[in-house]
Amino acid sequence: MKTAELRVDEELILRMSGAGPRYTSYPTVPEWHDFGDADARAALVRASAKPDEPLCIYVHLPFCARMCLFCGCTVEITRRQGKVDSYLAAIEKEVAMTCALLGKRRKIAQIHWGGGTPTHLKPEELRRLYGILSSHFEIEKGAEISIEVHPHVTSFEQIDTLVELGFNRVSMGVQDLDHHVQEVIHRDQTTEETENLVAHCRKRGIGGINLDLMYGLPEQTEATFAATLQTIARIKPDRLAVYGYAHVPWLKRHQTALERYRLPTAPERARLFFVAIDELSKAGYEVIGLDHFALKTDALYRALESDTLHRNFMGYTTHPAEEMLAFGMSSIGDFGGAFVQNNHDTKSYEAAINSGQFSAMKGMVRSAEDDLRRAVIQSLMCGMRLDLDEMEARCGVKDLATHFARELSELQPLADQGFCTISGRRVDVAPRGRLFLRHLAMVFDEYLRKKKAEGPRFSKTI
Ligand SMILES: C[S@@+](CC[C@H](N)C(=O)[O-])C[C@H]1O[C@@H](n2cnc3c(N)ncnc32)[C@H](O)[C@@H]1O
Ligand code: SF4
Repeated sequence: MKTAELRVDEELILRMSGAGPRYTSYPTVPEWHDFGDADARAALVRASAKPDEPLCIYVHLPFCARMCLFCGCTVEITRRQGKVDSYLAAIEKEVAMTCALLGKRRKIAQIHWGGGTPTHLKPEELRRLYGILSSHFEIEKGAEISIEVHPHVTSFEQIDTLVELGFNRVSMGVQDLDHHVQEVIHRDQTTEETENLVAHCRKRGIGGINLDLMYGLPEQTEATFAATLQTIARIKPDRLAVYGYAHVPWLKRHQTALERYRLPTAPERARLFFVAIDELSKAGYEVIGLDHFALKTDALYRALESDTLHRNFMGYTTHPAEEMLAFGMSSIGDFGGAFVQNNHDTKSYEAAINSGQFSAMKGMVRSAEDDLRRAVIQSLMCGMRLDLDEMEARCGVKDLATHFARELSELQPLADQGFCTISGRRVDVAPRGRLFLRHLAMVFDEYLRKKKAEGPRFSKTI
């Protein structure tokens, strides 16, 4: 794809830069309500009705040695050894409680360990956690097994252990390589650390290596960010996520410390994003969707081309398992027609599990209408289209043209701006529309429509 196809003028990008959800789920998290042990149990029992369907597993490992000031993840800063021990013991109980309700359903097509920093765990702890999963589940041959790591704290020995366990995807946090920006955000990470870790992963046969970058960080300029991107292009990861910094100090108090520095304005954020597009296009990366880029040789790009791309809480993926079990504090599962999110702090999570209860805190059982809209949003964000005939067949519904008449007319202004084309019963996302998938999806978000009057509750879309 040529950069020119993606270019939109700055004025337009500013107009489009309001708040919006990322649609890793529909309905989105703000629409969920209080959930508890009984809701989690009921959803697991429903999930047990499809014994042969493979599942995904997400494990949240919240620990980090040091707080990065921009961090929006659910983390716990600790260096105390006992913390990891008691956490893994709780995960073991949670897995056993889950399996007791899942009947014969055990096949696993995808595993992801996210955080925090999963490589806060020592090699023997990584083995222990993997053993908990492999002794309860049947991990399919060819399953995608991935982990998020921070290069500054990840050793070759940890990577070797992960490879030995069967991990075949690694995602590394980088954010920015500029020394001053790193100092401001409290991040210690040399280019060599990232480069050497990528090289070691490759040597050990890990493919689809992803690096996370961020734009909109304090003190970033177009020149510093371009320099970061040029170095990254030299390292040449298979994939890149380029996230806009979400400044949400009302949720993450530590972010207020960044307010004494110069935070890029909205037009500056837009320009930083274009710097990323320009540099990455020059280096041979294609836009997958939203803020994800991949080389043409990468499985994610091939999935986009062959119409097999999927999206779940982990973002874009090539694996089709529809339902996801989630273990650990704050983790979000999607099974038995419901979303189920665990308690946000380690203490409450462990206390619930140790008393024999699931620590579910928030969630939602989806309605048929929710599932239909979810399928539409998935199709726009992964298949880059909405084909009403296809959707009717897939969801077993009729006359979607009438059902979505208002939405289809609301897409017209987006089509006028070149984000999509509408012809007959089909909407196709245009190349530049891949950067604005949230906006196309928002048209089909019934809850957002109802709540528009309440004002923004999400981070900026650009
Ligand atoms: C769990 S971390 C990645 C692994 C590891 N903890 C690290 O930092 O290297 C997940 C990613 O979320 C992104 N992230 C964290 N806080 C963010 C924020 N406030 N806004 C946007 N992206 C953010 C970063 O790119 C980060 O690499
Ligand atoms: S960005 Fe990564 S390493 Fe930094 S605090 Fe957040 S999860 Fe931990």
